[in-house]
Amino acid sequence: MARLAGRVAVVTGAARGIGKAIATRLAAEGAALAISDVNGGGLEALCAELRAAGAPAASFHAADLSLEEGAQALLQAVQQAHGHCDILVNNAGGGVIRPFLEHTPETLRQTIDRNLWTTIWCTRAFLPGMIARQFGRVINIGADSVHTGTYSHAGYNAAKGGVHALVTGLAFEFAKEGVTFNVVSPGGVLTEDLQAMMSDDPETLQKYRMSVHPREVARREIPAQRFTEMREVAAYVAFLAGDEAGAVNGQIHSINGAQWMM
Ligand SMILES: NC(=O)c1ccc[n+]([C@@H]2O[C@H](COP(=O)([O-])OP(=O)(O)OC[C@H]3O[C@@H](n4cnc5c(N)ncnc54)[C@H](O)[C@@H]3O)[C@@H](O)[C@H]2O)c1
Repeated sequence: MARLAGRVAVVTGAARGIGKAIATRLAAEGAALAISDVNGGGLEALCAELRAAGAPAASFHAADLSLEEGAQALLQAVQQAHGHCDILVNNAGGGVIRPFLEHTPETLRQTIDRNLWTTIWCTRAFLPGMIARQFGRVINIGADSVHTGTYSHAGYNAAKGGVHALVTGLAFEFAKEGVTFNVVSPGGVLTEDLQAMMSDDPETLQKYRMSVHPREVARREIPAQRFTEMREVAAYVAFLAGDEAGAVNGQIHSINGAQWMM
């Protein structure tokens, strides 16, 4: 299944979690991969795994992508290693999740930096090359908590709401250039972090300040009664990255086990 053969994909925030799953899936579909993260530790090992998964080439570049210079440095590294970028997955992010009034100015800034500024700077860095080649796929990883609200998520939702909103205007501006912009918007995803919270040990509930076990949250709030798997998010990203998704543009795609519907 080499649907993405000949394509170069950049995945941000790929050192772990959903980003790693997305990079692995795109590699399995034949794309060359450039992965980036502020945490350089996991990137080198993942490169070897990506080649084993099917990527014809894999490179990594550690950078703080919330800074314009970080995104520009990634662009330079990708141009050197692969020549160009066809697919940009703006996955870097993650919340500082806490009640709104418990945030500090610093945690609010971090929340916007990690999720929204990484997306803005990387899109601005890679878009001109896509326009020049008249092909591009920009896929932002948003969050369904923008629609469902969810306790302690207001600051995070402000950042992800911007990530969602960005694609509609960009789709309007650049559709005629062969570049598409979409958001994949997950509900709760069974990442390594959530897996760690799934323990039945009562100390785990205390450690993560949870009053209800995540299994119970899924049972009560998600009609599918389970969290989404990382590979299910990755499969949808892979579809949007392909040639056949060329008319899918400016959309928010929820992946949420029917937790929220339009
Ligand atoms: N886990 C979920 O249930 C869930 C639900 C909805 C949306 N999301 C979103 O999906 C994406 C991946 O989530 P995850 O759970 O795998 O998160 P994660 O925290 O495990 O991974 C995010 C990665 O982004 C990197 N990153 C953060 N700031 C960065 C920066 N400034 N520059 C470069 N890299 C940076 C981190 O180092 C980390 O490796 C995030 O955007 C998150 O907001 C996650």
